[in-house]
Amino acid sequence: MTAAFTFPPGFQWGVATAAYQIEGAAALDGRRPSVWDTFSATPGRVLNGDTGAIACDHYHRYPEDIRLLAHLGVKHYRLSVAWPRIVPEGRGATNAAGLDFYRRLVDELLAHQITPHVTLFHWDSPQALEDRYGSWRSREIAQDFADYVAVVVQALGDRVTHWMTLNEIFCFTHLGYGVNTTPPHAPGTVVDTEQTVWQTSHHALLAHGLACQAIRATTPQPCQIALVDNYLATVPLLETPEHIAAAQAAFATVGTNGGIIFPALTGEYHPALLAQLGDRAPHIHPDDLAIIHQPLDALGFNVYSGVVVRATDQPPGYEVVPFPLGYPRLHMPWLQIVPDSLYWGVRHVSETLQRPDLPVFISENGCAAQDTVTPAGEILDLDRIHYLRQYLQSAHRAIAEGYPLTGYFLWSFLDNFEWFWGYDRRFGITHIDYATQRRTPKASFHWYQACVAQNRIL
Ligand code: FCB
Repeated sequence: MTAAFTFPPGFQWGVATAAYQIEGAAALDGRRPSVWDTFSATPGRVLNGDTGAIACDHYHRYPEDIRLLAHLGVKHYRLSVAWPRIVPEGRGATNAAGLDFYRRLVDELLAHQITPHVTLFHWDSPQALEDRYGSWRSREIAQDFADYVAVVVQALGDRVTHWMTLNEIFCFTHLGYGVNTTPPHAPGTVVDTEQTVWQTSHHALLAHGLACQAIRATTPQPCQIALVDNYLATVPLLETPEHIAAAQAAFATVGTNGGIIFPALTGEYHPALLAQLGDRAPHIHPDDLAIIHQPLDALGFNVYSGVVVRATDQPPGYEVVPFPLGYPRLHMPWLQIVPDSLYWGVRHVSETLQRPDLPVFISENGCAAQDTVTPAGEILDLDRIHYLRQYLQSAHRAIAEGYPLTGYFLWSFLDNFEWFWGYDRRFGITHIDYATQRRTPKASFHWYQACVAQNRIL
């Protein structure tokens, strides 16, 4: 008999990180500032004045970190490339030292039989492009991004076969630009209208489309191209036909789903969203949707939480059910524990977005916990294990029901710079003592190591 919660052979177990959150070495070997360097150096923007200048010092410690990855037993690792290391001014001259760093990193992973899954943009856009044209406010950034992507694929495409274009368009656009409020993410620009904000995510979609074309035109070997999105999963309050239909109907209108994942996967902004937006909708040039709607080999789904939906007898026939006071969550205001959001997020791709052909992998799932080090030096993060186990059970269910879920990347391998929360929030299964840069595997590390080794949930 097969042990309970066994995954199919070939299921990809991995962990994820991102360049600005772990690398440090912000001013080394020709790297120029990103918008996150500027933002975090601006007083009041990041908690405790933390910056990514040193972070986990992964730039220097990657050999040790990769040994730890090998010890964890994962065969897949999601990392990101920092645009300002490769094309420091955002466009124009390339920096050979930046490419060399990622060559060394990738070669070290391959030497340990770990497949690199490379995100081409995880929020650290070059400050030079912010100064030149306001980053994502300008259409020009789409072509500059595609040109940078071609440089990376040219240099690394002989050894990297798994590419992701952009990470979480919503966060670096709708949280990077705001009306009447200081937005929490870099570049942190206050703009005049919501239409301008929607224009930034539209430009990001264009950047994704042009980048897909650039990868296909440049890769020297067959490769997998994915978009990584944190669309909001709607979970039916009860799994009855009426509530399931409500969750499916709501899916296009919650968060920014109708204007990000819909155009990327279907080639259209969802009509219900456009109706909601009215004159706040982005300006769309005639060929834009064709550029945005590129064939993809997979979709990366970042999932931490979700929303619960029920059917109603009032138009539009559904409503989001608010979380009650005291609903369980982990160490973030938005981290309500909704394990079914993983299963439903995968199922919505097949059924609601009508892309049953498209393989999905979990590109991020994890949680911040209030980890403490015991006198014996252990970190007994039972809360994190509890959270991860439930979400993995939801992944198992999706596969058992036949949805094409191919892998799972736990966020995160290491504690790291958690954006505007700085080092205050810890998402790692490996503890970092930032004073000494000492790495200590937490209890969740050992638990995940056993899951990976046995290809099942323990
Ligand atoms: C996601 C980001 C990732 C990390 C986690 C906690 O939104 O992609 O960099 O910060 O949240």
